Amino acid sequence: MTTLARPPWNSGRTALGDAGSDFDVEKVRVDFPILRQKVGGHQLVYLDSAATSQKPKAVIDAIVQYYERDNANIHRGVHHLSQRATEEFEAARKSVQIFLHAAQASEIVFVRGATEAINLVAQTYGRVHVGQGDEVLITAMEHHSNIVPWQMLCEEKRAKLRVAPINDKGELILEEFERLLTPRTRIVAVSHVSNALGTINPVAAMTKMAHARNIPILVDGAQAAPHLRVNVQELDCDFYVFSGHKTYGPTGIGALYGKLALLEAMPPYQGGGDMISSVTFEKTTYNKVPHKFEAGTPDMSGAVGLRAALEYLDRLGMDNIAAYEHELLTYATERVSAIPGVRLIGTAKEKAGVLSFVIDGVHPHDIGTILDQEGIAIRTGHHCAQPVMERFGIDATARASFGVYNTKEEIDALVRGIQRVQEVFA
Ligand SMILES: Cc1ncc(COP(=O)(O)O)c(C=O)c1O
Repeated sequence: MTTLARPPWNSGRTALGDAGSDFDVEKVRVDFPILRQKVGGHQLVYLDSAATSQKPKAVIDAIVQYYERDNANIHRGVHHLSQRATEEFEAARKSVQIFLHAAQASEIVFVRGATEAINLVAQTYGRVHVGQGDEVLITAMEHHSNIVPWQMLCEEKRAKLRVAPINDKGELILEEFERLLTPRTRIVAVSHVSNALGTINPVAAMTKMAHARNIPILVDGAQAAPHLRVNVQELDCDFYVFSGHKTYGPTGIGALYGKLALLEAMPPYQGGGDMISSVTFEKTTYNKVPHKFEAGTPDMSGAVGLRAALEYLDRLGMDNIAAYEHELLTYATERVSAIPGVRLIGTAKEKAGVLSFVIDGVHPHDIGTILDQEGIAIRTGHHCAQPVMERFGIDATARASFGVYNTKEEIDALVRGIQRVQEVFA
């Protein structure tokens, strides 16, 4: 049986070296079996990690081991396997707490992913606190997952969704953001890193601005958690959400962090087993947090896999990952922006993980199709961020996004692929 004890996370210590420059990507690549394949006769170049990351063997093995050794339903059983599965599940919660640097494990709620976490907050905290004429503030670079749940809430409550604008580089205009914090603002919801542009938002400063007016803030960390060291206590945000599958973990699991006092005061999200402490036909009393928000049988194997992913990231070191990926992004930005006829969408000073671009005279869908013939996987479209596309006056972009396993050689392959696209459309 595994134990909770493990070395402190994200201490700068790493199995692979002390700095980004020591990051041995070839060793990392060995951990990802899926990368060994060829696509259309070419070595696979996976540049779509912002959509979902690939999984290291440690994650795959942890899930297999869970099903081969530990599987049983959790929290309710007195038998050995149930207790073991419960320990594994709660150990996974602890690993998320450590990963996010949260004060306590009970501040971590398991959900399906960032989308569900945002809906949970909108439908619980939001429905209690947002009323007619109130405002919810988001930014112009949000993923649909951080727009639509708030829009639904505002529609129901006859509240107003306000949107802080971005500049031509894809950076938030901070003064405008501050100006839009009004006495009617009941909650702020912002992405830590934009999935369409790669922009890193100054969420600590934004939190300070919101808190100066007693407004809580939710940070959508779906695109930040895989790339940056996240410390929710330092950020002081009230809610933080991320998805396991973008963070080298399995699909179907993610986490909501919420400050304990807020979670305790919030009504439950869904009703069912496990979220109750007692039920009669007259009245139900709810379980304590976080279980109050986890109705029904949760994704136990997903939690176990997520823990393995977070431990894997810890072994690499989040600071090393950030430094290495920054190097990759800088290289990719220089090389791709030097190609005549290519325009980058999203040129913020602070960026992570994402290179969005358009090519004169070529639809992004065609870029993706031709690159695929070269074995290069990128994403094309609006990236579930249609308002961002509108802001830049385009329908879609081609987006290359990076993970711990990508190399400069793969970026060279992308550059050759883009040149081939241009030849085909010349
Ligand atoms: C910034 C951002 N927020 C939220 C989401 C939604 O994540 P999920 O589909 O895993 O719930 C995504 C997914 O691409 C994202 O990029």
